[in-house]
Amino acid sequence: MSRIAYVNGRYVPFAEASVHIEDRGYQLGDGVYEVCEIRSGALVDERRHLTRLSRSLAALRISQPLSDKALHFVLEETVRRNRVRDGLLYLQITRGVARRDHAFPEHPVKPALVVTVRGLDRKKAEASAAAGIAIVTLPDDRWGRVDIKTIGLLPNALAKQRARDAGAKDAWLVDSEGFVTEGASANAWIVKDGLLVTRPSSNRILTGITMTVVKEIAARLQFKLEERAFSVEEARAAEEAFLTSATQTVMPVISIDGRVISSGKPGPVAKRLREEFHRTAEIGRKIV
Ligand code: PDD
Repeated sequence: MSRIAYVNGRYVPFAEASVHIEDRGYQLGDGVYEVCEIRSGALVDERRHLTRLSRSLAALRISQPLSDKALHFVLEETVRRNRVRDGLLYLQITRGVARRDHAFPEHPVKPALVVTVRGLDRKKAEASAAAGIAIVTLPDDRWGRVDIKTIGLLPNALAKQRARDAGAKDAWLVDSEGFVTEGASANAWIVKDGLLVTRPSSNRILTGITMTVVKEIAARLQFKLEERAFSVEEARAAEEAFLTSATQTVMPVISIDGRVISSGKPGPVAKRLREEFHRTAEIGRKIV
């Protein structure tokens, strides 16, 4: 079955899906995005993702291209047309097409909207979670507003590649004081003295939807949570480490910079949170 993309009002075959060369997303990285999990034919936490999307758009003064209701329809329709039951939905909104100039277009242009969907092998993802992943730490050299989910992901992409080059799956980014901010595309957590530790929301991290749900699970299961920054040394000596994102839900980390965490196996807290995740997340109606 051929894949279908939604591009500015039309559902088109992937091979024909394209945007204008003067789209400000392409020229300047002037846009925002969201990534939403599709599980058993339904969208996971759509409402929360769309709320964060509105916040990102407002922060960049980009207008919403569609009403909430119309956008919801487009998301479901893109999933339906692709018949993806387990996978990921990507949504990108840029300021639109205008003659190249750093400042905003003098006359407002229509924001551009692209929605794509792709399948994910759930068995492979579970095998990866059962084994745990290795990560490396790298300096966080991103701009000061990473709380906005922009498509300007070059530092994240470079960090991820450096992780791959080192034989690891991901990178944790470290601020100038030696504290972990977050992962290249995920939030970072440790378990220390039985407490869950993660960095509080600020402009130094993206407040993950998965992170928000995991905090709710922690409260329900009566796991104690400490919202504070933790250092790389602390993470290396932790009982457990894990990361959270819509693409990986809760993923155990078993080594940092080549040093094994605890027993070198996924820990019970991360395992439990992963099991609980889809019981707490908001699962939408079945689309396919
Ligand atoms: N990334 N921090 C960063 C820098 C991220 O890019 C992401 C998500 C997160 C976790 O957010 P959430 O739980 O809402 O997915 C934190 C997505 C998945 C991506 O870029 O593919």
